[in-house]
Amino acid sequence: MSLEKTPAETCVLVTGGAGFIGSHTVVELLEGGYQVVIVDDLSNASEKVLGRIAQIVGAEAAERLSFIRADVADRDALETVFETFAIDRVIHFAGFKAVGESVSKPIEYYSNNLGNTLVLVDVMRAYGCKDIVFSSSATVYGDPDALPLTELSPKKMATNPYGWTKWMIEQILSDLVVADPAWNVVLLRYFNPIGAHGSGLIGEDPKGIPNNLLPYVAQVAVGKRDCVHVFGNDYDTPDGTGVRDYIHVVDLAAGHVAALAWMNGRTGCEIFNLGTGTGTSVLEIVKAFSAACGRELPYVIEARRPGDVTANWADCTKAHELMGWTAKRGIAEMCRDSWNWQSHNPDGYED
Ligand code: UD1
Repeated sequence: MSLEKTPAETCVLVTGGAGFIGSHTVVELLEGGYQVVIVDDLSNASEKVLGRIAQIVGAEAAERLSFIRADVADRDALETVFETFAIDRVIHFAGFKAVGESVSKPIEYYSNNLGNTLVLVDVMRAYGCKDIVFSSSATVYGDPDALPLTELSPKKMATNPYGWTKWMIEQILSDLVVADPAWNVVLLRYFNPIGAHGSGLIGEDPKGIPNNLLPYVAQVAVGKRDCVHVFGNDYDTPDGTGVRDYIHVVDLAAGHVAALAWMNGRTGCEIFNLGTGTGTSVLEIVKAFSAACGRELPYVIEARRPGDVTANWADCTKAHELMGWTAKRGIAEMCRDSWNWQSHNPDGYED
C-alpha cells in the first residue's frame, strides 16, 4: 500500500538515472526536495553526469543523491540497494532504446528490457515497495487512426522490438495491479523528448550516428555532420515531412515529479500522455534550429524511413486535469537549449 509522504520523506530509486531523460528527472526531483538513488550501469551514460547534476542543484541538494553503478538485472546488486536504502517509489528508465539496433538485436533488447523489469518488480515486491512510474512511449500507439492521441486511443502493433518492449512492459505492469491491487503503477507515454537543461550542463549524448532527428540536427549545427537527411517529403502533412509532438526534456522531467505527487497514497494503474499537444514537421524543426544557432542548416530530402508514421501528437488534457501538469516550453526554447548544450559540449560528456 502506498503511503502518503512528503518529498523530503520520500526516497526515489531512479533506474537509468544517468541517461538523457533520467538525468533531467533527477535534477527536478532533487530540486523538488526528494531523496534520490540512481542505479545505472553506465552502459550508455557517463559518470560525469553526476558531477553536472550536483553543479546544477548545488551542494546541499546533491547530498540527497546517491549513485550505485549496477545493472538493474543484477538481482544481488538490486537487493543490496533495497537493503541499504528505504526505497519508497521507483522511476524505471533503464533500458536499451535504439530502434534500428533493436531490429538487428531482438534477443538483447527483449532480454535486457523485459529481464531487468521483471527482476526490478520482483525485488520491489520482496521489499514491499509497489509504487512504480514507467518510462513508456507514444510508440505504443503505432500508426494512429485519429489525432490527437488520448490515453484511450488504441495500442497498435509495434514496428520494432524496442517498441514491443515498451508495449509488453506496460502490459506486465498493468497485470501486476490486477493480481495485487496494492500496486501503484503510472505509465508515462512520452512523445518526442528534445532540448536540454537550460544550464547547458546536461543534455543528450548519443553514441555514434544519432538515429533521432534532434541530436542529428544539433550535430549538423556544430559541424560534426554535413547536412540533415529529411526522411520523406511526400507524407500527407502540410509540408510533406513527418510531424511529431516534440516536448522539452525539462517539461518531461517535471511530468515525473507531478506523477510522483499525484500517485502519493494511491493504488491502481494510470496512463498519462506527456507531450505538448502541438505537431511540428521535420522542416519546421530544421528552420527553428537554424534560427537558434544563427545559420541556415543544409538539408537533403531522402526516401521515407521504414516504420515511420506520418504524424502524431498528444492530447494531454488528462495529465493537466489529474496531475496539474502541462508542458510550458515551445519549439524555439527546445532548439535554443539543445544548441546551448551542443555548442558547449560538442562531444557530449567526452573530454
Ligand atoms: C523514434 C522511434 C520511437 C522512439 C523515439 C525515441 C521510430 C520509428 N520511432 O521516434 O519509437 O520512442 O524515437 O526518441 O524510430 N527524421 C529525419 N531525419 C533524421 C531523423 C529523423 O527526417 O535523421 C524524421 C523522422 O522521419 C520523423 C521525425 O524526424 O518524421 C522524428 O524522428 P525521430 O527523432 O527518430 O523520432 P520518432 O521516429 O518519432
